Amino acid sequence: MLRCNKGGAKFPQGERTRHSAQPTLPRDICYPARFSSRPTSRRSPTLMYAGIDFGTSNCSIGKWENDAPQLVPLENGSTRLPSAIYTSRTHVAVGRIDEDELALRVSRATALNRQQSREAGSVRELTAAEIENIERGLMRRELEERAQRKSESETIRSALYADSEIFFGEAAIERHAEDPLSGYFMKSPKSFLGADLETPQLELFSEIVTRMLSHIKTTAEGEGEADDQITSIVLGRPVNFHGNKADGNAQALNLMERAAISAGFEQIEFLMEPVAASLDYERQLQQDTIVLVLDIGGGTTDCSMVEIGPTFRGRSDRLSSVLGYAGNRVGGIDLDIKLAFERLMPLFGRGTSQRSGLPLPNSLFWKPIAVNDVNLQAEFASRQEAASLHSFLRAAVDKQKFSRLITLQGERLSHRLSRSAEMAKIALTDQARVDVSLDYVEMDLGIDISRDQLRDAIEKELKLFISLMKEAEAQAGVRPDVVYVTGGSARSPVVESWIRTHYPGVDIVVGDAFGSVTSGLTTWAHQIFR
Ligand SMILES: Nc1ncnc2c1ncn2[C@@H]1O[C@H](COP(=O)(O)OP(=O)(O)OP(=O)(O)O)[C@@H](O)[C@H]1O
Ligand SMILES: [Mg+2]
Repeated sequence: MLRCNKGGAKFPQGERTRHSAQPTLPRDICYPARFSSRPTSRRSPTLMYAGIDFGTSNCSIGKWENDAPQLVPLENGSTRLPSAIYTSRTHVAVGRIDEDELALRVSRATALNRQQSREAGSVRELTAAEIENIERGLMRRELEERAQRKSESETIRSALYADSEIFFGEAAIERHAEDPLSGYFMKSPKSFLGADLETPQLELFSEIVTRMLSHIKTTAEGEGEADDQITSIVLGRPVNFHGNKADGNAQALNLMERAAISAGFEQIEFLMEPVAASLDYERQLQQDTIVLVLDIGGGTTDCSMVEIGPTFRGRSDRLSSVLGYAGNRVGGIDLDIKLAFERLMPLFGRGTSQRSGLPLPNSLFWKPIAVNDVNLQAEFASRQEAASLHSFLRAAVDKQKFSRLITLQGERLSHRLSRSAEMAKIALTDQARVDVSLDYVEMDLGIDISRDQLRDAIEKELKLFISLMKEAEAQAGVRPDVVYVTGGSARSPVVESWIRTHYPGVDIVVGDAFGSVTSGLTTWAHQIFR
């Protein structure tokens, strides 16, 4: 199998003449030049290559046909498959009390109780039956808590392994919306791949990515000739995966590569998403151009300064045309979260007080909407959280609003709320105001949101997009001729006008928001696998 070399690499001295900085690539970054010495094996005509964008919000796959990349329909004629999976629930029993461990704990507790009652007269010496009762109760609670903690990761995994029906994309979203409690739903698995995960969680995400890649593979194969088999792929990767783990990028790449193998692919290469987008844009260029590519997706924002055009097209070594890059773990989901926090959470009591006069803590309103934080989501779904919310309800002044938060928690409506914020954000592309209905929480509950309010809610993220562009520009040491903007979030007029304001006089080209990365990945697959 051909592999991307994940070892440290540097821009070769002397190859970059347009800037003084010599940034060292992160250890796990692979650029096209790593492929330059690759064998170009040819296989039987039914074995095919493809480019796959395994996106935080949407997945797509492209094949090379009629001398151009062609995106393949994946669901109901759409070439975009929402990155979501749903499977029905299987039962996980709470474990049994281990009687040997109980006996050991009883004997330890007995000795401790004796010692304490000898040393402090106020401590009563308990009977053997009392101690056994206490220890049995403690162990039962521990088992229940352990089962509760594990259920999110282990149960969904066993459900995936069991013969339960699995749904992908819109079908998964619809199933979950119909009945949030009767199955397992995972949206945007990519946003967790770089997080600090425990082994069972890692295994769960591996399984989910495998299932999704396998579904994409078989669907795309089904769209072609009966015996087509896609065996070689170029997979997109962000500059930095979402997540806070130090070696999160390496973890995510490793997981994706293993998942791709399990899904049946034989040759797997990675290419940075903004570099892929630039390869797509390059196909329409008549002259060499220095382009600042900004790809604002669902989970990450990636930026690259690249030199592309007729001189570079078709070269196998493209390393020297990447002049600078920067990436951050912020994307459309974060915009939804901010919008939900600022505009929707006040309907649930954010900003109101407790009887003591103190405000209700903001963290209460952050947890339900932070759908890209696996730990916060598990915390929000826990029984402890339910208990804590009920005690805050007793203290809350505006009980009507706060009880909506309890509904949100009890009925597992976090994803629906986040989806409402996302739909509002998307609607604000074509209209200046939008009416958001939350009648799944309470009849007639809703709010009106304006485009200006969206801009105010996401101002921090907008500033961050510009700082990434400036960072890539500083590394390159040149001004771009063109800013090429792609990724779904770039469709927002709020985002586009922010960029225009900060790059006056520079050509801003808005590319195919949802297709350019996949087309670029497919173009690269054609170059290295044909
Ligand atoms: N009209 C719109 N206005 C604003 N945002 C939009 C619009 N349409 C889609 N989006 C957002 O675009 C994002 C998805 O974009 P895209 O498909 O490029 O992401 P992705 O490739 O899946 O994610 P990533 O590249 O981060 O892995 C979502 O957050 C979605 O809400
Ligand atoms: Mg993307």
